[in-house]
Amino acid sequence: MDKFVIKGPSKIKGDIRISGSKNAALPILAATLLFSKPVELKNVPNVRDIQTMLNLLRFFKKKIKISKNKNTIKIYNSKKIRTYLPYSISKTMRGSIICLGGLVSKYGKAISAYPGGCAIGTRPINYHLDALKKLGMKYEIKKGYIYATAKNGLKGNNIKFKKISVGATENSIIAASLAKGKTILKNCAIEPEIKDLTKFLSSAGANIKWIGKRTVQIIGVQKLRSINYTVMGDRIETGTMAIAAAITGGTLKIKGLDPKIINTELELLKKTGSIIKYGKNEIKIFGAKKIKNIKLIKTKEYPGFPTDLQAQFMTLLCKAEGRSVIAENIFENRFMHVLELQRLGAKILLKNNKAIIEGNSKFEGAELMSSDLRASVALVLAAMVAKGTSIIHRVYHLDRGYEKIEDKLRKVGARIKRVS
Ligand code: EPU
Repeated sequence: MDKFVIKGPSKIKGDIRISGSKNAALPILAATLLFSKPVELKNVPNVRDIQTMLNLLRFFKKKIKISKNKNTIKIYNSKKIRTYLPYSISKTMRGSIICLGGLVSKYGKAISAYPGGCAIGTRPINYHLDALKKLGMKYEIKKGYIYATAKNGLKGNNIKFKKISVGATENSIIAASLAKGKTILKNCAIEPEIKDLTKFLSSAGANIKWIGKRTVQIIGVQKLRSINYTVMGDRIETGTMAIAAAITGGTLKIKGLDPKIINTELELLKKTGSIIKYGKNEIKIFGAKKIKNIKLIKTKEYPGFPTDLQAQFMTLLCKAEGRSVIAENIFENRFMHVLELQRLGAKILLKNNKAIIEGNSKFEGAELMSSDLRASVALVLAAMVAKGTSIIHRVYHLDRGYEKIEDKLRKVGARIKRVS
């Protein structure tokens, strides 16, 4: 199993181009199930979750061509599509459930393994199933599998999600794109990745219109046309790199994303003392010498502060001058990085869904364990400012969603190497 060896402290300086968004590319790849014609996707990050999704599409018998740099993917249909999603794949990536809507909508049936929980929480799929049922999908759960059918195809309906869910919104948008008639989805998640999915589907001929802040109208079409689409940049990677500059007191130009998309995060970084200059699809961030604390940060659905940056922000606040509090409101168990940060010297107290971060921590290098994607990258940030050597084990968690992160960070001055 690969590990990272990181020597600190280091200060970073230079330019970084961020990769395409994993969480936008995943539902877009799932949506290619709706197509009979080829689809070409550019700016797809070469990370493990994307490889898992491509393996799944291959398992469904789609044909896939990958460019030399691995970032352009062309997906072709084959005559013999398989509509079975095995446990062996779903257990490695819960997000594979977003294929259910596409399979049932296009092929009228699917057998899908029921996804299990994961390190950050139980992550049920009740909103996905309720919405697809309202679109006409019938299903039974037997021996850990969902047996789903829609013999005469799906039919549009009015659906209001009880709670905002990224995955359930994506599954329903994909399913409704080929359903008969009009679907109105209310109380949708409006993460930028969802807007990228609707932009992708609309450019292929789907009839999708956002008619309210969290309301989307979809009028089903019979088929989608072949397209070539460029996936948006990764906002969580952008935020992570901005925090790398802030925590090391470094200077970084980060290219590849419209800064308006991450306004909430950038405003918080400014509160900690960083200076930010805005450009077109880029920012330049100057980390402060003294990091200021923030009284309270609450994770919230977009446009609120993202749970996917909670661990990285917590690491930054460990180095701030006073006490900060972070409330995690999206996942019930997303504090696994806390114990590892404490190994380095962090003073953090957990109380229900809140982390009370004392600040002024002096980190000293230690051996650390990755537990999930964002927790692992938080440890990388911490190790970059810890005195001495840190070893981060199980970086395969990190490889799920960050493309060549060690190369990118090394180029701007971090002392990081991968050991196999
Ligand atoms: N939920 C339910 N029932 C459902 C669906 C969700 O109770 O049917 C609950 C979840 O348990 C959670 C909350 O609703 O407490 C929000 O879950 P959501 O469905 O919005 O999350 P997701 O679709 O499973 C995506 C991202 C996550 C990101 C969350 C929140 C992808 C592939 N995953 O997950 O990304 O944290 O939205 O923004 O897009 C990551 O990239 O590290 C990651 C975990």
